[in-house]
Parts: sequence; C-alpha cells; structure tokens
Amino acid sequence: MAKVSRETPSTPEAARRAFPSARLGLAERFAGLLATEGVVRGLIGPREAERLWDRHLLNCAALESALPHGSRVCDVGSGAGLPGLVLAIARPDLSMELVEPLLRRTTFLDEVAAELGLTNVTVTRGRAEALHGQRTFDVVTSRAVAPLARLLEWSMPLVSPTGAMIAMKGSSVADEIEAAAGVLDGLGCATPEVLELPGVGEGPGARAVRVRWARRSGPAGRRRRAS
Ligand SMILES: C[S@@+](CC[C@H](N)C(=O)[O-])C[C@H]1O[C@@H](n2cnc3c(N)ncnc32)[C@H](O)[C@@H]1O
Repeated sequence: MAKVSRETPSTPEAARRAFPSARLGLAERFAGLLATEGVVRGLIGPREAERLWDRHLLNCAALESALPHGSRVCDVGSGAGLPGLVLAIARPDLSMELVEPLLRRTTFLDEVAAELGLTNVTVTRGRAEALHGQRTFDVVTSRAVAPLARLLEWSMPLVSPTGAMIAMKGSSVADEIEAAAGVLDGLGCATPEVLELPGVGEGPGARAVRVRWARRSGPAGRRRRAS
C-alpha cells in the first residue's frame, strides 16, 4: 500500500469536528489512501480526489448520528469503504462488517483496515444475498448500491427484528420509495422514514432512508407465519 503522498487532500475545518480528535489522523490517512491508491486502482475517479472530503468522507460521516451506540453494522456494497470505513473510523464503538463482492475492492478494504489498525472492521467478500439466513445486524447501511426496491431485497433479510436498514440516497428518494411500495409491503416493512442528517460545522449533510420491520418480528417471524 502506498504511503500518503503530496496528493493527500488538505483537511477541511469541518473534518476536525466530524471525527473525534483521536481519530482525525485515521480519517486523514484514509483520505490520503483514497486519493493515491484508490485512484491508481480505479476505485475512485481521478476527479473525485479533489472533492474527497465534502463529497465522500464528510457526506458519509453525517450518517453516524443515525447509528445507535454499540451497533453491529453491515455495510452492503462498501466499494472503497464508503460509508463503511468512514463509520468505523468515526465510531470505534461500532462493529462494522463490510460486504463487497469484488476482489479488487475487498483487497483495498482489507489493506486499509490493517494499515489503519481498525480492529472494529471485518471485510467479507460476497454479495449481500449470500449472507441471508446466516447473520443479522442492528443496522444495514449502503450508499450508491442499487435502487431502493432491489436494495430492500438484498438488505432487509440482514436486519435484525428490532434493527433497521439505512440507505444513503439523493434527491430521488421519494420516487424510489413510491416505486418500492410493492416490495416494502411484500417484505413486511414499516413505512420508510426519510432522514435529513445535518453536517457537522460547515460540512455537508446527508439524506438517507430508514426502513424497519413493521411487526418487529423480522424475517424469522415472517417465516414462522408462512409455514
Ligand atoms: C457504485 S458502487 C458504490 C460503492 C460505495 N458504497 C460508494 O458509495 O462509493 C456499488 C458497489 O456495490 C457493490 N455491489 C453490487 N451488488 C452488490 C450486492 N448484491 N451485494 C453487495 N455489494 C454489491 C459493487 O461491487 C460496488 O462496489
């Protein structure tokens, strides 16, 4: 793994408030690795390197306010670690499992986690669906992975009976919720909540949709009823 180079983007003031002071150095090293190795390995577009903090790290850090203390979190489709590694850095109390099918990306995730000494991160290579029926989590996050309807099918079977899926979304969120009405109903989900998560200081906020189970019985309960 390349060392942080001259290309490392300078740290904006908002980052000093978004990350605990003891973890800011880790966030800076992650930004440096994304801007160098991330670009070289084609995980981040070259133009993204200039806007790494606002568009990526701080945007993902805004999600942390929606995660209960000590949660077991699965980040579906982590890519280069967004939001999974950002959350693991910002919140050492979280236990993060990053699920990503592509080897090139899981190699990068493993290397970054090792280089930064992130003991609260597990990287799992595979599709989210491969974990269905095996494991559940308090929160299942995602960013830029799939339209909501498909994301629900991949993510909700991983959500514990009292947990939630929290998917970062953009301006299309209302349309995506409407398009997912049949899937929401079929899976037994509660009405989705749109979260407008404030940024810290001058930093960007984030929009996300949170979906819980309607009956707090989760997938196991639904299976029992079906049989
Ligand atoms: C557009 S990238 C987004 C990556 C990252 N979340 C971000 O915001 O930069 C979508 C990622 O989802 C992964 N992916 C696609 N289908 C998946 C599935 N069924 N389960 C888990 N990950 C999946 C892809 O390999 C890819 O890394």
